[in-house]
Amino acid sequence: ANSLNRAHLKLSTDAIAASVFAPTHRGPWKAGDVLTQPALGITLRAIAIQGEDAFRSGPIVESTVAASQSGGGILAVEDFQNYEAVIRDVLPIEWNGLQILAATPPSSGGVFLHQTLAFLERHPLKEWGFHDPKTVQILGEATAAAFRARNRWLGDPAGLNYDMDEILDPSYLSKTSYRLSPDHYTPPDQSLPVPPMESSETTHYSIMDGEGGAVSVTTTLNGSYGAKVMAPGGFLMNNEMDDFAAQPGKPNQFGLVQGEYNAVIAGRRPLSSMSPVIVVRDGRVDAVFGSPGGPTILTTVLQVLLNRYEFEFSPEKSVFAPRFHRQDRPPTLRFEPGRLGRPTLKAIQGLGQPTRSVTSLGDVNAIFRDGNEWSAMADPRRQGLGRVLQNQ
Ligand code: DON
Repeated sequence: ANSLNRAHLKLSTDAIAASVFAPTHRGPWKAGDVLTQPALGITLRAIAIQGEDAFRSGPIVESTVAASQSGGGILAVEDFQNYEAVIRDVLPIEWNGLQILAATPPSSGGVFLHQTLAFLERHPLKEWGFHDPKTVQILGEATAAAFRARNRWLGDPAGLNYDMDEILDPSYLSKTSYRLSPDHYTPPDQSLPVPPMESSETTHYSIMDGEGGAVSVTTTLNGSYGAKVMAPGGFLMNNEMDDFAAQPGKPNQFGLVQGEYNAVIAGRRPLSSMSPVIVVRDGRVDAVFGSPGGPTILTTVLQVLLNRYEFEFSPEKSVFAPRFHRQDRPPTLRFEPGRLGRPTLKAIQGLGQPTRSVTSLGDVNAIFRDGNEWSAMADPRRQGLGRVLQNQ
């Protein structure tokens, strides 16, 4: 209810979305209200009966294309007919005696995790301690450096003309890691104006079955309620085009400034930060997790990994512990209000590191092996329970 009420104005501008989510005759949504979506029901039934054919041709496709075109959009029937899902390999990352199975481009998740874990390897994070100024600063330096590479080089592998191995080359990673220090703030190459951050709508879920099988899924409409435009079939259209560098060199809604490898080209997929992971120890699944949050997905997943496997926190603390985020640009280190100790904040600000508090970072849904049991943890952050975490 809160989420719909917050999005009320934006959802009101599209007639179909408004009829479902923001009908004029009703006041604000409250808990217990019933929301019915009959058009979506018909669409889901068509998918249940026809499978993907329901999205190749027929009424769903025709009505979506007609609505797109009458709204000035460029969707065509051929887009539905030609679209193919691509099954990609995972990127296995060896770290700390574990194997982390992470996503390959066009997700930046695997490359980001591989790089940051390599940059951090020579620093005794555990000895310094969780949220010690050195730990926070080196993490920010490492993630900013990995974002720099991400934004410069990554995109749909269909468009890349270099060897991925170069980006993960141990000697390149080691050279870069020696340029990063826990006592130093490295500003971005140049500063650019950055648009305000918008909160957004992405979902992660983690599944384990009784036989040890694991599924880690992050799925996205990109922005909150996607494009805030609903197809006649009752489903929201995404605004994934913003994950491309629509104008290389100009920030997108997440403040990411990306390059020509991620430019808009027909048939290409945009670069993503979605980073579902499965952690394997001795051939057995040990954890399944991921998060929404645009670029903060990457730093969230990294911190959950470090919490669990470097600081050896409990499953609960690994998810609930305070988080922070730094990307290349803007260079600000964002932290959850009241959840990064004052002395740490003062110390990193003293290095010249700009900082800012934000409501919360990420929303992790995780499963961890915990002795002989499984622990499933749902992050309270986006359920509006931020305050519950203040003292954790
Ligand atoms: O794929 C991506 O990186 C973005 N579409 C994710 C957006 C997102 O997580 C917004 N969520 N809160």
